[in-house]
Amino acid sequence: MNIRPRRLRSKAVMREMVAETRLHPSRLVQPHFVHAADDEQAIESMPGIARQSIARLVDAVGDDLALGLRNVLLFGVTDEKSADARAATDPDGLVPRAVRALRAAHGDDLLIITDVCLCGATESGHCGVLHEGKVLNDESLPLLAAMAVSHAEAGADIVAPSDMLDGRVEAIREGLDDAGLPDTAILSYSTKFASAFYGPFRDAADSSPQSGDRKSYQMDPRNGREALHESLIDEAEGADMLMVKPALAYLDVIADIAQEAMIPVAAYNVSGEFSMVKAAAQKGWVNEALMVSEILHSMARAGADQIITYHAREALAGGWLE
Ligand code: PBG
Repeated sequence: MNIRPRRLRSKAVMREMVAETRLHPSRLVQPHFVHAADDEQAIESMPGIARQSIARLVDAVGDDLALGLRNVLLFGVTDEKSADARAATDPDGLVPRAVRALRAAHGDDLLIITDVCLCGATESGHCGVLHEGKVLNDESLPLLAAMAVSHAEAGADIVAPSDMLDGRVEAIREGLDDAGLPDTAILSYSTKFASAFYGPFRDAADSSPQSGDRKSYQMDPRNGREALHESLIDEAEGADMLMVKPALAYLDVIADIAQEAMIPVAAYNVSGEFSMVKAAAQKGWVNEALMVSEILHSMARAGADQIITYHAREALAGGWLE
């Protein structure tokens, strides 16, 4: 016996031929934070990422299109907070305006996904309506559906509910269909954990809970079977795509769901995962390009069909994934 796996690693062309996983730019999604001000505000805990005006967003997305980065996920950042998250359901709100501007500038070259969640617009910072310390489930569903409809009417291709309330995929599907929008797809944040990895995002989106935490609706990181249950429920409710979030600490969950589900499974490489790499790279402790390539390929290897990542633009511009 002379079994030598090293033969297939002998030179670059050989390694390229046998590589099992490849990341095409069409699988990547770049998240964006849009705000009403007409300037750009750097987000300290997310180096290289900023809150942008609609005009700057349109330009930045145009630059990304030239790199082959065609998919965006939009988050609206507003300081208009209310009990019923009015700013989030306004058909002329920030995100609908941003969607219209992007569509007008870039047409169908661009795939627009919008995050659907109330946390950026509730006084409480919770993902649903808060009453006597509790996040109300069924009372929040019409607001989520209205928010999704406002994005879809503006031209979003995909709406992505991230609240983790029960029944929201069905409520949003009904809302879209009733509004005459049967072709808008739903990417459900179907398995979303209550995670410390969202820290930098909450700075970026000004969406931290003002009291308590999100453990009564987001999942317990210790649970794998429930993780599968959550995604399969959303598939049954009519989601077109599923998601696991965060990604890096949950590759086993991505693999399980990708085995069981019949629809695409996206991975969200979240803010804390991004910022850890950035911080270590800024200190000169790791090679950022190699580390990002390794991390993103690990998600694809686990079974993720799409990867939402703040690294997308830099990774493509720098040729890190080749
Ligand atoms: C809103 C939402 C969050 C993220 C995406 N949508 C934050 C949260 O649930 O607290 C996190 C994204 C990231 O960390 O990059 N509910």
